[in-house]
Amino acid sequence: MPAPTKPLPTDAVPSGDGNPPGLSGEDAAKLDALFDHLRERSPRSIGYPCSGDFDYGPLFRFLDFSLNNVGDPFSGSNYQLNTHGIEREVLADFARLAGFREEEIEGDGRAFWGYVTHGGTEGNMYGLYLARELFPEGVVYFSEDTHYSVSKILRLQHTRNIMIRSQPDGEMDYADLEESLRIHRDTPPIFFLNAGTTMTGAVDRVDRVLDMARRLCLPHHYIHVDAALSGMILPFVENPPPWNFAAGIDSLSISGHKMLGSPLPCGVALARKNHVDRVARSVEYIGALDTTISGSRNAITPVLLWYALRSHGVAGLRERVERSLALADHAVSSLRAIGVAAWRHPHSITVVFPRPPHAILEKWILAPYEDICHLITVPGVDRAMIDAFVSDMKHLVPPGP
Ligand SMILES: Cc1ncc(COP(=O)(O)O)c(C=O)c1O
Repeated sequence: MPAPTKPLPTDAVPSGDGNPPGLSGEDAAKLDALFDHLRERSPRSIGYPCSGDFDYGPLFRFLDFSLNNVGDPFSGSNYQLNTHGIEREVLADFARLAGFREEEIEGDGRAFWGYVTHGGTEGNMYGLYLARELFPEGVVYFSEDTHYSVSKILRLQHTRNIMIRSQPDGEMDYADLEESLRIHRDTPPIFFLNAGTTMTGAVDRVDRVLDMARRLCLPHHYIHVDAALSGMILPFVENPPPWNFAAGIDSLSISGHKMLGSPLPCGVALARKNHVDRVARSVEYIGALDTTISGSRNAITPVLLWYALRSHGVAGLRERVERSLALADHAVSSLRAIGVAAWRHPHSITVVFPRPPHAILEKWILAPYEDICHLITVPGVDRAMIDAFVSDMKHLVPPGP
């Protein structure tokens, strides 16, 4: 039962007593209690893909400005307290990592467009919006393992869609996709593919889907890839499955607060510039192109992403991925050693295992779905946390058959 709320104080509270200026002792204590609650929970958070290995202290000074990145980061804006310049650098970095060639990154040859979103969901909404603008009659195909927010986006957009069965490991069932495509050959397909599903980290194969479209003579199609977590893993592994712009996709969404890590939810939407040019609209009031889904946009998160990318560098980002993969291996083998049927996809840091009892879910802040559950070895999760979790599993979970 949530605690009852109190009305706002009627009079200003005099400063003093060491409380934050203007806060009563009671309100100051509430803030302290919230902070303590978060500090206590954070070392037990292993079920959600949010890295915690950051220190953005050097950026706190930017909180003194009323910043806003309203408008298209590439077109300039009347509102000058923005961080569009830094945002463009972040987008170029992500575009490189997502398979655009160097000559497609800068100047007249720039072939990508994008913006820093409020999270992976907005990037998926952007990709599906762009696809629908290009193919108003198109049908969206997405697997049943796709993130729950995608059904909501499709309802919002009133886009026709067909859910495709998944294989048991979470990857799209291509036979089911082909059967559906054959029935709807008169409408352009919009493929919504996963590069890392929420529950099992499965990657849908862009090459298989493109090959299918070719075989079925469907030249007009669109591919959006949801790479919420794995978009910052796959660029740093050996021989990843084809997943990015180099493989022929049209748009991509990556979450910034997941693998890279940020205290504020954020993400990146990327698309082929020629598609975006066809749907852009200019708005005089903001002096910018109205290409983004949100109007006012967070101007701090581009700076956080920029700082994370620049301070880790490519070698640092690769090292984080390698450490997370090694820890995922350790989690799988430790769980198997106590009889828990744990597994993971080769390029994924999502460790899947049978749904444990409620006490474990609650203590380790885990996200179950039907009869499975997962932990995710993002940076910030360490070996001691995994070992303590495995020890709890050993004592609280009855041995499997
Ligand atoms: C595969 C996938 N897509 C999209 C999302 C939504 O991303 P966000 O929470 O950044 O909006 C998630 C979140 O976990 C996800 O796992």
